[in-house]
Amino acid sequence: MTGQNWFVSNDGQCNLLKTIPFGENTTHPYRLYRFLTDLEDILDKISDDRLRLQAICPLVRQLLESSSWLQFAFLEPDPQTGWAVQNLYDEPFFPLTVQLVAWTPGAISPIHNHGSWGVVALLNGEEKNTFWQRSPTAKFPDRIQTIRDHLLTPGDILCLMPNAIHQVEAMTPNPTISLNLYGETYHDLRFEFDPILHTAYNF
Ligand SMILES: [Fe+2]
Repeated sequence: MTGQNWFVSNDGQCNLLKTIPFGENTTHPYRLYRFLTDLEDILDKISDDRLRLQAICPLVRQLLESSSWLQFAFLEPDPQTGWAVQNLYDEPFFPLTVQLVAWTPGAISPIHNHGSWGVVALLNGEEKNTFWQRSPTAKFPDRIQTIRDHLLTPGDILCLMPNAIHQVEAMTPNPTISLNLYGETYHDLRFEFDPILHTAYNF
């Protein structure tokens, strides 16, 4: 699965991310448990979020290219909510969550940040990301403004800094499916934003 690697800064700037290929021996598929072990090593060795993302992205690329099961992964969005989540890894007292996430065609997420580093690897469909940045005024300290849109296609990997604010929209007639990774979430730093009322609240 080909695609590009993107990095979204805390102020919503989205740029190509240059990485060094992971280069794992491909005699065997890059098994999920090895991927998780390599992730743990990175989290142990690197504490800076940007450097973590730079190190994690090639592992995710290797997983996409090596693990064919991911390309056939299917998850049915809930017709009520328009989305669904399947946890692949979520262990108490360890700061890592790995999920498959599906959005129904046309679904639009709230505008939010994650309060942790995050990686989204698109497996199926097309997902429009709109990026925002904080633009506070004296009257509205939680005011935000749009930066740009960016369309993710299958094989694209999006690396998000903890304060990167985005909104996703599923653009194709079939559900969009992505592999999502998140670090330790600090709930007091995770917000949904209302761009009309200029408010933000924890979720
Ligand atoms: Fe998100």
